[in-house]
Amino acid sequence: QLGIYAAGMFAQQTPSITTNLARLEEQAAETLSPEALGYIVASAGSGSTARANRTAFDKWAITPRMLRSSAARDHACTVLGTDMPAPLMIAPVGIQTLAHPEGELATVRAAAELGVPYIHSTQASHSFEQIAEAGGDAPRWYQLYWPTDESVLLSFLQRAKDSGFSALVLTLDTTLLGWRPADLDRGYLPFLANLGIENYLSDPAFQAGLGQPVEENPVAAAMHWAQMFPNPGLSWKNLAFLREHWSGPIVLKGICTVGDAREAAAHGVDGIVVSNHGGRQIDGARASLDALPSIVEAVGDELTVLFDSGVRTGADMAKALALGADGVLLGRPFLYGLALGGQEGVAHVLRCLLAEFDLVTSLSGHTGAGELGRDSIMES
Ligand code: FNR
Repeated sequence: QLGIYAAGMFAQQTPSITTNLARLEEQAAETLSPEALGYIVASAGSGSTARANRTAFDKWAITPRMLRSSAARDHACTVLGTDMPAPLMIAPVGIQTLAHPEGELATVRAAAELGVPYIHSTQASHSFEQIAEAGGDAPRWYQLYWPTDESVLLSFLQRAKDSGFSALVLTLDTTLLGWRPADLDRGYLPFLANLGIENYLSDPAFQAGLGQPVEENPVAAAMHWAQMFPNPGLSWKNLAFLREHWSGPIVLKGICTVGDAREAAAHGVDGIVVSNHGGRQIDGARASLDALPSIVEAVGDELTVLFDSGVRTGADMAKALALGADGVLLGRPFLYGLALGGQEGVAHVLRCLLAEFDLVTSLSGHTGAGELGRDSIMES
Protein backbone atom coordinates (compact mmCIF):
# COMPACT_ATOMS: atom_id res chain seq x y z
CA GLN A 1 0.00 0.00 0.00
CA LEU A 2 2.70 2.44 1.07
CA GLY A 3 4.78 1.37 -1.96
CA ILE A 4 1.92 2.28 -4.29
CA TYR A 5 1.43 5.70 -2.68
CA ALA A 6 5.18 6.39 -2.72
CA ALA A 7 5.50 5.46 -6.42
CA GLY A 8 2.62 7.81 -7.20
CA MET A 9 3.84 10.74 -5.12
CA PHE A 10 7.57 10.58 -5.79
CA ALA A 11 7.89 8.89 -9.17
CA GLN A 12 4.54 9.78 -10.78
CA GLN A 13 3.94 6.06 -11.37
CA THR A 14 0.49 4.65 -10.86
CA PRO A 15 -0.42 0.95 -10.93
CA SER A 16 -1.06 -0.27 -14.49
CA ILE A 17 -3.69 -2.68 -13.17
CA THR A 18 -6.45 -1.30 -10.98
CA THR A 19 -6.32 -1.83 -7.21
CA ASN A 20 -10.12 -1.88 -7.19
CA LEU A 21 -10.53 -5.63 -7.32
CA ALA A 22 -14.24 -5.35 -8.01
CA ARG A 23 -13.37 -3.43 -11.22
CA LEU A 24 -10.83 -5.91 -12.63
CA GLU A 25 -13.35 -7.53 -14.93
CA GLU A 26 -14.07 -4.20 -16.64
CA GLN A 27 -10.35 -3.59 -17.20
CA ALA A 28 -9.67 -7.15 -18.42
CA ALA A 29 -12.54 -6.85 -20.89
CA GLU A 30 -10.46 -4.33 -22.83
CA THR A 31 -7.68 -6.92 -23.34
CA LEU A 32 -9.40 -10.26 -23.80
CA SER A 33 -10.78 -11.56 -27.09
CA PRO A 34 -14.60 -11.74 -27.17
CA GLU A 35 -14.42 -15.55 -27.07
CA ALA A 36 -12.08 -15.64 -24.09
CA LEU A 37 -14.05 -12.98 -22.26
CA GLY A 38 -17.30 -14.80 -23.01
CA TYR A 39 -15.96 -18.06 -21.64
CA ILE A 40 -14.38 -16.56 -18.51
CA VAL A 41 -17.10 -14.11 -17.48
CA ALA A 42 -20.03 -16.13 -18.65
CA SER A 43 -22.12 -18.17 -16.36
CA ALA A 44 -24.94 -20.62 -16.85
CA GLY A 45 -28.29 -19.67 -18.35
CA SER A 46 -29.62 -16.26 -17.41
CA GLY A 47 -26.74 -15.63 -14.99
CA SER A 48 -29.01 -15.58 -11.94
CA THR A 49 -26.75 -17.77 -9.79
CA ALA A 50 -23.65 -15.77 -10.68
CA ARG A 51 -25.47 -12.58 -9.65
CA ALA A 52 -26.78 -14.20 -6.47
CA ASN A 53 -23.20 -15.19 -5.57
CA ARG A 54 -22.31 -11.50 -5.46
CA THR A 55 -25.43 -10.10 -3.78
CA ALA A 56 -25.15 -12.74 -1.04
CA PHE A 57 -22.11 -10.86 0.27
CA ASP A 58 -24.18 -7.69 0.66
CA LYS A 59 -26.45 -9.44 3.15
CA TRP A 60 -23.61 -9.48 5.67
CA ALA A 61 -21.87 -6.50 7.23
CA ILE A 62 -18.57 -6.42 9.09
CA THR A 63 -18.94 -5.10 12.65
CA PRO A 64 -15.69 -3.21 13.41
CA ARG A 65 -14.36 -3.12 16.96
CA MET A 66 -11.94 -0.35 18.03
CA LEU A 67 -8.90 -0.05 20.31
CA ARG A 68 -8.09 -3.74 20.19
CA SER A 69 -4.37 -3.43 19.57
CA SER A 70 -3.90 -5.14 16.23
CA ALA A 71 -0.38 -3.89 15.45
CA ALA A 72 1.05 -7.41 15.34
CA ARG A 73 -0.90 -9.49 12.88
CA ASP A 74 -0.52 -12.98 11.49
CA HIS A 75 -2.92 -14.61 9.05
CA ALA A 76 -0.82 -17.70 8.40
CA CYS A 77 -2.55 -21.05 8.62
CA THR A 78 -2.27 -24.70 7.67
CA VAL A 79 -5.04 -26.32 5.63
CA LEU A 80 -4.90 -30.11 5.21
CA GLY A 81 -1.17 -30.11 5.82
CA THR A 82 -0.45 -27.17 3.49
CA ASP A 83 1.02 -24.00 4.99
CA MET A 84 -0.13 -20.68 3.57
CA PRO A 85 0.34 -16.99 4.44
CA ALA A 86 -3.42 -16.46 4.73
CA PRO A 87 -6.44 -18.74 4.17
CA LEU A 88 -6.40 -18.14 0.41
CA MET A 89 -5.80 -20.48 -2.51
CA ILE A 90 -5.93 -20.21 -6.29
CA ALA A 91 -9.09 -21.94 -7.57
CA PRO A 92 -8.69 -24.57 -10.28
CA VAL A 93 -9.34 -22.95 -13.65
CA GLY A 94 -8.90 -24.70 -16.99
CA ILE A 95 -7.29 -23.44 -20.19
CA GLN A 96 -5.56 -20.41 -18.76
CA THR A 97 -3.77 -19.78 -22.05
CA LEU A 98 -7.08 -18.21 -23.09
CA ALA A 99 -6.23 -15.33 -20.76
CA HIS A 100 -2.48 -15.15 -21.44
CA PRO A 101 -0.05 -17.15 -23.61
CA GLU A 102 1.89 -18.34 -20.56
CA GLY A 103 -1.32 -19.55 -18.93
CA GLU A 104 -0.93 -21.70 -15.82
CA LEU A 105 2.87 -21.31 -15.83
CA ALA A 106 2.50 -17.59 -15.09
CA THR A 107 -0.15 -18.30 -12.46
CA VAL A 108 1.83 -20.94 -10.61
CA ARG A 109 4.92 -18.70 -10.60
CA ALA A 110 2.94 -15.79 -9.14
CA ALA A 111 1.35 -18.09 -6.58
CA ALA A 112 4.79 -19.42 -5.64
CA GLU A 113 6.11 -15.87 -5.24
CA LEU A 114 3.49 -15.20 -2.59
CA GLY A 115 3.29 -18.69 -1.08
CA VAL A 116 -0.38 -18.95 -2.06
CA PRO A 117 -1.25 -22.58 -2.91
CA TYR A 118 -2.13 -23.24 -6.53
CA ILE A 119 -4.80 -25.78 -7.52
CA HIS A 120 -4.15 -27.28 -10.94
CA SER A 121 -7.14 -28.07 -13.17
CA THR A 122 -7.58 -31.30 -15.11
CA GLN A 123 -8.45 -29.06 -18.07
CA ALA A 124 -5.25 -27.01 -17.82
CA SER A 125 -3.21 -25.98 -20.84
CA HIS A 126 0.00 -27.22 -19.19
CA SER A 127 1.01 -30.63 -17.89
CA PHE A 128 1.64 -31.74 -14.30
CA GLU A 129 5.34 -31.91 -15.03
CA GLN A 130 5.54 -28.39 -16.50
CA ILE A 131 3.71 -27.01 -13.45
CA ALA A 132 6.03 -28.86 -11.09
CA GLU A 133 9.03 -27.35 -12.85
CA ALA A 134 7.59 -23.81 -12.83
CA GLY A 135 6.26 -24.04 -9.27
CA GLY A 136 9.36 -25.58 -7.66
CA ASP A 137 8.75 -26.32 -3.98
CA ALA A 138 5.66 -24.11 -3.77
CA PRO A 139 2.48 -25.74 -2.47
CA ARG A 140 0.10 -27.22 -5.04
CA TRP A 141 -3.00 -29.38 -5.14
CA TYR A 142 -4.57 -31.20 -8.07
CA GLN A 143 -8.19 -30.81 -9.18
CA LEU A 144 -9.66 -33.90 -10.76
CA TYR A 145 -12.42 -34.21 -13.30
CA TRP A 146 -13.10 -37.92 -13.16
CA PRO A 147 -12.59 -39.36 -16.67
CA THR A 148 -14.62 -42.32 -17.87
CA ASP A 149 -11.39 -44.10 -18.87
CA GLU A 150 -10.00 -45.74 -15.71
CA SER A 151 -6.46 -46.10 -17.03
CA VAL A 152 -6.40 -42.33 -17.66
CA LEU A 153 -7.67 -41.69 -14.12
CA LEU A 154 -4.92 -43.85 -12.63
CA SER A 155 -2.32 -42.14 -14.78
CA PHE A 156 -3.55 -38.70 -13.59
CA LEU A 157 -3.26 -39.75 -9.96
CA GLN A 158 0.22 -41.18 -10.41
CA ARG A 159 1.52 -38.16 -12.31
CA ALA A 160 -0.04 -35.76 -9.78
CA LYS A 161 1.67 -37.62 -6.95
CA ASP A 162 5.01 -37.80 -8.77
CA SER A 163 4.81 -34.06 -9.55
CA GLY A 164 4.35 -33.02 -5.93
CA PHE A 165 0.62 -32.26 -5.80
CA SER A 166 -0.20 -32.91 -2.16
CA ALA A 167 -4.02 -32.97 -2.08
CA LEU A 168 -6.72 -34.01 -4.50
CA VAL A 169 -9.77 -31.85 -5.18
CA LEU A 170 -12.51 -33.84 -6.92
CA THR A 171 -14.96 -31.50 -8.66
CA LEU A 172 -18.49 -32.92 -8.49
CA ASP A 173 -20.59 -30.25 -10.17
CA THR A 174 -19.34 -30.58 -13.75
CA THR A 175 -20.09 -34.15 -14.77
CA LEU A 176 -21.79 -32.38 -17.70
CA LEU A 177 -20.99 -28.92 -18.96
CA GLY A 178 -23.57 -26.30 -17.90
CA TRP A 179 -25.75 -24.42 -20.42
CA ARG A 180 -23.56 -21.43 -21.24
CA PRO A 181 -25.22 -19.18 -23.80
CA ALA A 182 -22.19 -16.91 -24.29
CA ASP A 183 -20.21 -19.89 -25.63
CA LEU A 184 -23.18 -21.54 -27.32
CA ASP A 185 -24.10 -18.41 -29.26
CA ARG A 186 -20.56 -18.33 -30.65
CA GLY A 187 -20.46 -22.07 -31.17
CA TYR A 188 -17.23 -21.89 -29.21
CA LEU A 189 -15.99 -24.77 -27.05
CA PRO A 190 -12.73 -23.66 -25.45
CA PHE A 191 -11.69 -27.21 -24.55
CA LEU A 192 -11.51 -28.09 -28.23
CA ALA A 193 -9.90 -24.74 -29.04
CA ASN A 194 -7.30 -25.64 -26.40
CA LEU A 195 -6.47 -28.77 -28.35
CA GLY A 196 -6.22 -26.74 -31.55
CA ILE A 197 -8.84 -28.89 -33.24
CA GLU A 198 -10.40 -26.01 -35.16
CA ASN A 199 -7.15 -25.79 -37.15
CA TYR A 200 -7.63 -29.31 -38.46
CA LEU A 201 -11.34 -29.46 -39.14
CA SER A 202 -11.07 -29.15 -42.91
CA ASP A 203 -8.00 -31.39 -43.08
CA PRO A 204 -8.71 -34.81 -44.62
CA ALA A 205 -6.09 -36.30 -42.31
CA PHE A 206 -8.18 -35.08 -39.37
CA GLN A 207 -11.28 -36.80 -40.71
CA ALA A 208 -9.31 -39.98 -41.31
CA GLY A 209 -7.67 -39.73 -37.88
CA LEU A 210 -10.96 -39.82 -36.01
CA GLY A 211 -11.43 -43.47 -36.75
CA GLN A 212 -7.90 -44.53 -35.86
CA PRO A 213 -6.59 -45.96 -32.60
CA VAL A 214 -5.58 -43.14 -30.24
CA GLU A 215 -2.04 -44.48 -29.87
CA GLU A 216 -1.41 -43.90 -33.56
CA ASN A 217 -3.02 -40.54 -34.18
CA PRO A 218 -2.86 -37.36 -32.11
CA VAL A 219 -6.18 -36.09 -33.48
CA ALA A 220 -7.95 -39.24 -32.41
CA ALA A 221 -6.24 -38.93 -29.03
CA ALA A 222 -7.51 -35.35 -28.70
CA MET A 223 -11.07 -36.37 -29.49
CA HIS A 224 -10.80 -39.27 -27.06
CA TRP A 225 -9.68 -36.78 -24.40
CA ALA A 226 -12.63 -34.48 -25.06
CA GLN A 227 -15.10 -37.35 -24.90
CA MET A 228 -14.01 -38.85 -21.60
CA PHE A 229 -15.17 -36.03 -19.31
CA PRO A 230 -18.94 -36.06 -19.52
CA ASN A 231 -19.41 -38.50 -16.64
CA PRO A 232 -22.91 -38.16 -15.18
CA GLY A 233 -22.79 -41.76 -13.96
CA LEU A 234 -20.45 -40.79 -11.12
CA SER A 235 -21.86 -41.55 -7.65
CA TRP A 236 -20.85 -41.64 -3.98
CA LYS A 237 -19.89 -45.29 -4.48
CA ASN A 238 -16.96 -44.24 -6.71
CA LEU A 239 -15.19 -42.48 -3.84
CA ALA A 240 -13.86 -45.73 -2.35
CA PHE A 241 -11.84 -46.27 -5.55
CA LEU A 242 -10.26 -42.85 -5.18
CA ARG A 243 -9.37 -43.49 -1.54
CA GLU A 244 -7.73 -46.74 -2.59
CA HIS A 245 -5.52 -44.99 -5.15
CA TRP A 246 -4.78 -41.64 -3.50
CA SER A 247 -3.12 -41.55 -0.10
CA GLY A 248 -3.16 -37.77 0.48
CA PRO A 249 -6.10 -35.58 1.51
CA ILE A 250 -9.25 -35.70 -0.64
CA VAL A 251 -11.50 -32.64 -0.98
CA LEU A 252 -14.90 -32.62 -2.70
CA LYS A 253 -15.61 -29.41 -4.62
CA GLY A 254 -19.13 -28.33 -5.46
CA ILE A 255 -20.99 -29.11 -2.24
CA CYS A 256 -24.04 -26.84 -1.83
CA THR A 257 -26.26 -28.59 0.71
CA VAL A 258 -26.09 -29.86 4.29
CA GLY A 259 -27.20 -33.28 3.06
CA ASP A 260 -24.24 -33.65 0.70
CA ALA A 261 -21.85 -32.22 3.29
CA ARG A 262 -22.95 -34.95 5.73
CA GLU A 263 -22.64 -37.54 2.98
CA ALA A 264 -19.09 -36.33 2.32
CA ALA A 265 -18.21 -36.67 6.01
CA ALA A 266 -19.76 -40.15 6.12
CA HIS A 267 -17.62 -41.17 3.14
CA GLY A 268 -14.45 -40.24 4.97
CA VAL A 269 -13.16 -37.42 2.81
CA ASP A 270 -10.97 -34.76 4.41
CA GLY A 271 -12.61 -31.60 3.18
CA ILE A 272 -15.17 -29.93 0.95
CA VAL A 273 -15.38 -26.78 -1.11
CA VAL A 274 -18.75 -25.08 -0.76
CA SER A 275 -19.08 -23.86 -4.34
CA ASN A 276 -21.48 -23.56 -7.24
CA HIS A 277 -18.62 -23.20 -9.74
CA GLY A 278 -19.07 -19.44 -9.92
CA GLY A 279 -22.64 -19.86 -11.19
CA ARG A 280 -21.37 -21.58 -14.34
CA GLN A 281 -23.24 -24.85 -13.95
CA ILE A 282 -26.82 -24.65 -12.61
CA ASP A 283 -28.67 -21.45 -13.38
CA GLY A 284 -31.06 -20.78 -10.52
CA ALA A 285 -28.98 -22.59 -7.88
CA ARG A 286 -28.53 -21.03 -4.47
CA ALA A 287 -25.76 -18.52 -3.84
CA SER A 288 -22.68 -20.26 -2.51
CA LEU A 289 -22.34 -17.90 0.50
CA ASP A 290 -25.98 -18.54 1.48
CA ALA A 291 -25.21 -22.25 1.70
CA LEU A 292 -22.07 -21.82 3.82
CA PRO A 293 -23.32 -21.18 7.40
CA SER A 294 -25.57 -24.25 7.70
CA ILE A 295 -22.90 -26.49 6.14
CA VAL A 296 -20.29 -25.22 8.59
CA GLU A 297 -22.70 -25.85 11.44
CA ALA A 298 -23.36 -29.41 10.24
CA VAL A 299 -19.83 -30.63 9.40
CA GLY A 300 -17.40 -27.88 10.46
CA ASP A 301 -16.06 -30.00 13.34
CA GLU A 302 -15.40 -33.02 11.15
CA LEU A 303 -14.27 -31.59 7.81
CA THR A 304 -12.16 -28.78 6.45
CA VAL A 305 -14.67 -26.45 4.81
CA LEU A 306 -13.35 -24.29 1.99
CA PHE A 307 -15.39 -21.77 0.04
CA ASP A 308 -15.59 -20.17 -3.41
CA SER A 309 -17.91 -18.41 -5.84
CA GLY A 310 -18.18 -14.65 -5.74
CA VAL A 311 -15.09 -13.67 -3.73
CA ARG A 312 -13.80 -10.42 -5.23
CA THR A 313 -12.38 -8.31 -2.38
CA GLY A 314 -10.59 -8.56 0.94
CA ALA A 315 -13.89 -7.82 2.67
CA ASP A 316 -15.56 -10.73 0.84
CA MET A 317 -12.78 -13.00 1.99
CA ALA A 318 -13.22 -11.79 5.58
CA LYS A 319 -16.98 -12.41 5.44
CA ALA A 320 -16.61 -15.99 4.17
CA LEU A 321 -14.04 -16.74 6.89
CA ALA A 322 -16.24 -15.10 9.53
CA LEU A 323 -19.06 -17.42 8.43
CA GLY A 324 -16.84 -20.37 9.22
CA ALA A 325 -14.87 -21.20 6.07
CA ASP A 326 -11.36 -22.53 6.76
CA GLY A 327 -10.13 -20.93 3.55
CA VAL A 328 -11.32 -19.33 0.33
CA LEU A 329 -10.50 -20.06 -3.30
CA LEU A 330 -10.02 -17.15 -5.66
CA GLY A 331 -11.53 -17.68 -9.11
CA ARG A 332 -12.11 -15.12 -11.85
CA PRO A 333 -10.14 -12.20 -10.32
CA PHE A 334 -6.75 -13.90 -10.70
CA LEU A 335 -7.62 -14.71 -14.31
CA TYR A 336 -8.26 -11.03 -14.97
CA GLY A 337 -4.86 -10.28 -13.45
CA LEU A 338 -3.36 -12.95 -15.72
CA ALA A 339 -5.02 -11.38 -18.78
CA LEU A 340 -3.80 -7.92 -17.84
CA GLY A 341 -0.23 -8.70 -16.88
CA GLY A 342 0.75 -12.37 -16.93
CA GLN A 343 2.68 -13.48 -13.85
CA GLU A 344 3.00 -9.91 -12.58
CA GLY A 345 -0.74 -9.38 -13.07
CA VAL A 346 -1.64 -12.42 -11.00
CA ALA A 347 0.87 -11.38 -8.33
CA HIS A 348 -0.66 -7.87 -8.30
CA VAL A 349 -4.16 -9.26 -7.73
CA LEU A 350 -2.97 -11.58 -4.96
CA ARG A 351 -0.99 -8.80 -3.27
CA CYS A 352 -3.93 -6.39 -3.43
CA LEU A 353 -6.36 -8.98 -2.11
CA LEU A 354 -4.08 -10.00 0.75
CA ALA A 355 -3.32 -6.36 1.62
CA GLU A 356 -6.97 -5.38 1.57
CA PHE A 357 -7.87 -8.42 3.65
CA ASP A 358 -5.16 -7.52 6.17
CA LEU A 359 -6.48 -3.95 6.43
CA VAL A 360 -10.12 -4.99 6.77
CA THR A 361 -9.33 -7.49 9.51
CA SER A 362 -6.99 -5.17 11.36
CA LEU A 363 -9.27 -2.12 11.15
CA SER A 364 -12.12 -4.22 12.46
CA GLY A 365 -10.10 -5.28 15.51
CA HIS A 366 -8.56 -8.66 14.66
CA THR A 367 -4.94 -9.74 14.90
CA GLY A 368 -5.30 -12.58 12.42
CA ALA A 369 -7.63 -14.45 10.09
CA GLY A 370 -8.09 -17.07 12.78
CA GLU A 371 -9.93 -14.55 14.99
CA LEU A 372 -12.68 -13.94 12.45
CA GLY A 373 -15.95 -15.44 13.60
CA ARG A 374 -19.67 -14.89 13.81
CA ASP A 375 -19.22 -11.89 16.11
CA SER A 376 -17.10 -10.21 13.39
CA ILE A 377 -20.19 -9.79 11.18
CA MET A 378 -23.95 -9.38 11.34
CA GLU A 379 -26.85 -9.66 8.91
CA SER A 380 -27.36 -6.28 7.37
C1 FNR B 1 -13.62 -22.43 -13.53
N1 FNR B 1 -13.81 -23.32 -12.48
C2 FNR B 1 -13.27 -24.58 -12.56
N2 FNR B 1 -13.41 -25.45 -11.51
C3 FNR B 1 -12.85 -26.68 -11.55
O1 FNR B 1 -12.99 -27.44 -10.59
N3 FNR B 1 -12.12 -27.06 -12.64
C4 FNR B 1 -11.94 -26.26 -13.72
O2 FNR B 1 -11.28 -26.64 -14.69
C5 FNR B 1 -12.56 -24.99 -13.71
N4 FNR B 1 -12.45 -24.15 -14.77
C6 FNR B 1 -12.95 -22.85 -14.69
C7 FNR B 1 -12.75 -21.97 -15.75
C8 FNR B 1 -13.16 -20.65 -15.64
C9 FNR B 1 -12.91 -19.71 -16.76
C10 FNR B 1 -13.81 -20.21 -14.45
C11 FNR B 1 -14.23 -18.78 -14.29
C12 FNR B 1 -14.04 -21.09 -13.43
C13 FNR B 1 -14.52 -22.90 -11.25
C14 FNR B 1 -13.56 -22.27 -10.25
O3 FNR B 1 -12.71 -23.24 -9.68
C15 FNR B 1 -14.34 -21.60 -9.09
O4 FNR B 1 -15.23 -22.53 -8.51
C16 FNR B 1 -15.13 -20.38 -9.57
O5 FNR B 1 -14.34 -19.61 -10.45
C17 FNR B 1 -15.55 -19.53 -8.38
O6 FNR B 1 -16.38 -18.49 -8.79
P1 FNR B 1 -15.87 -16.98 -9.02
O7 FNR B 1 -15.26 -16.53 -7.73
O8 FNR B 1 -14.93 -17.00 -10.16
O9 FNR B 1 -17.12 -16.25 -9.35
